[in-house]
Amino acid sequence: MTSLFFALVATAVLVGVQAQIVVPSPGNVIQIQPTFRGAFPRTPCLTVFGATNGSALFIQDCSASTEERGFQLTAPVPSIGQIQGQIHIFNTFCLEAPQATNGAKVFINSCVDDLINQEWTWNPNGQIRWAGSQTAIGMCLDLTDGNLSNGNQMQIWDCDPNNANENQIWTSATLLQPLSEIINTAAVTGANLCMAANSSANGSPVFVVPCFDTTARRVWIAPQPGHGNAGSYQLSFGVDGGAPVKCLDVTDGVDAPGTKLQLWDCTEGPNQQFLPAPGPPGNIRWNGISQVFPMCVDLTNGVSTPGNQLQIWNCSTNINQAWFPIPPRQLDI
Ligand SMILES: *[C@@H]1O[C@H](CO)[C@@H](O)[C@H](O)[C@H]1NC(C)=O
Ligand SMILES: *[C@@H]1O[C@H](CO)[C@@H](O)[C@H](O)[C@H]1NC(C)=O
Ligand SMILES: *[C@@H]1O[C@H](CO)[C@@H](O)[C@H](O)[C@H]1NC(C)=O
Ligand SMILES: *[C@@H]1O[C@H](CO)[C@@H](O)[C@H](O)[C@H]1NC(C)=O
Repeated sequence: MTSLFFALVATAVLVGVQAQIVVPSPGNVIQIQPTFRGAFPRTPCLTVFGATNGSALFIQDCSASTEERGFQLTAPVPSIGQIQGQIHIFNTFCLEAPQATNGAKVFINSCVDDLINQEWTWNPNGQIRWAGSQTAIGMCLDLTDGNLSNGNQMQIWDCDPNNANENQIWTSATLLQPLSEIINTAAVTGANLCMAANSSANGSPVFVVPCFDTTARRVWIAPQPGHGNAGSYQLSFGVDGGAPVKCLDVTDGVDAPGTKLQLWDCTEGPNQQFLPAPGPPGNIRWNGISQVFPMCVDLTNGVSTPGNQLQIWNCSTNINQAWFPIPPRQLDI
């Protein structure tokens, strides 16, 4: 009875993990996530800070720029000595492990065509095998110590032949714009306010809540100026920034101070075009209908009561219009 129970649980867990694995097609720029999440509430992404030789491959919440999180798997090119693919970042840098030792840390170096230490195979079971090990078991990209904390550097480790080591099971996902909380410091209580909503229904109000309030959704996919998506602020109600995703929207596109902000299906229309700059620090400017006098996202009447719906108002340096993206914190959904 007991063993049957555990067998069923183990099967369920394995099926759950398998279902999430997506192997990237060569050439596509994607983000790479561990499938292991435990009770960890953030979305972790493989991240490299700095396009320099020796820069470490870290785990980090998916708030870094798309350049720092965008990986590209290449197809093997036997004519130049590549028996397996490379994993590129910053265009010309490649993931590399130094030697076939358990615990050897993974970093980037300039890509070199026939360098076996830069070659990897992404298996359908989610393991990313390193070509530098000649053993039958092989060595795999491994989430060091199963530690999902920001700044933990990845390593290589003997591949688990049973594919039961969760630290070695990876998935690719659509490269999202950075995930962030968007905070306003107007609250007199000292607790930061977060831009939030608690329903994905069209017309759902966008309001403020204290950032520690986990009942509301407040991890946004923020526009990244200069890197495409100059447009919309998107709020995900799914897992890992996934569907359903709704957009910050000026109700009926009414170009007047006091028009309330809501969520709506993302349309790329003028009601949903915002920019985190230019303007005073923190301004989120609506670039929608009229440019006669610019309108900005505004904490209505400066009221920090949870549920106070946001509005647009003439742009100013008022603290009610100072919004700052910060990486999602531990309490996030
Ligand atoms: C980076 O490393 C590659 C080889 O691994 C080398 O050719 C290149 O000169 C190095 N670049 C710098 C800036 O050190
Ligand atoms: C997890 O990794 C972080 C970043 O390297 C480190 O500060 C922390 O001590 C690690 N935690 C454990 C339990 O090893
Ligand atoms: C969020 O939704 C719940 C359930 O509909 C509602 O009771 C609550 O007041 C909402 N929170 C805010 C801040 O509007
Ligand atoms: C917004 O700015 C315009 C142009 O300066 C001005 O005419 C209008 O009165 C302002 N509205 C408010 C509510 O401040």
